[in-house]
Amino acid sequence: MKRKSFVASLTLLPVFKLFGTPGALVSRDCRTQRDAEGPYYKAGAPLKTTIETEGEALTITGTIFQSSDCATPVANATIDIWHCDSRGNYDNSGFKCRGLVKSDRQGKYSFKTIFPPSYGSRPRHIHFKVRADGFKELTSQIYFKGDPNLQNDFAKNAESSRVLAIKKTEGEQHGQFDIYI
Ligand SMILES: [Fe+2]
Repeated sequence: MKRKSFVASLTLLPVFKLFGTPGALVSRDCRTQRDAEGPYYKAGAPLKTTIETEGEALTITGTIFQSSDCATPVANATIDIWHCDSRGNYDNSGFKCRGLVKSDRQGKYSFKTIFPPSYGSRPRHIHFKVRADGFKELTSQIYFKGDPNLQNDFAKNAESSRVLAIKKTEGEQHGQFDIYI
């Protein structure tokens, strides 16, 4: 390293000290809240970006971040998704309404599926597990604003970040959900 750039890197050190360890400075806990796995998880779902088409179309997009600083994207994470079909049933013999989605180099992910109906007294929900090297597996569920069943079961304890507001643009329904692991 040339002397000039070495000196320059030294002058940057305090900046990194201030902003490089936000865990010590940021008190908010951004970690995505866990939720019950439920009885219908099945391992081995295939990689896909369209989980299901038979039903009311819904696209979910977001970014996966490290909860240690609430800011660093997690590339190449896997989201293992499962939900009921348009009739409220889970496929326990195959992989209908089940799929794996990967985050890209910027930690971003996107998948198309259906807006799952409620079944029993449960609100509409999508189950997911997030796995990434060096992180503890996260199992949780997302819910949707305005659902009359949100006060039932696990959902009543859901943090607002897990209760998505669905936006409709040009007939398309879209939910934004960032995940912190
Ligand atoms: Fe479920």
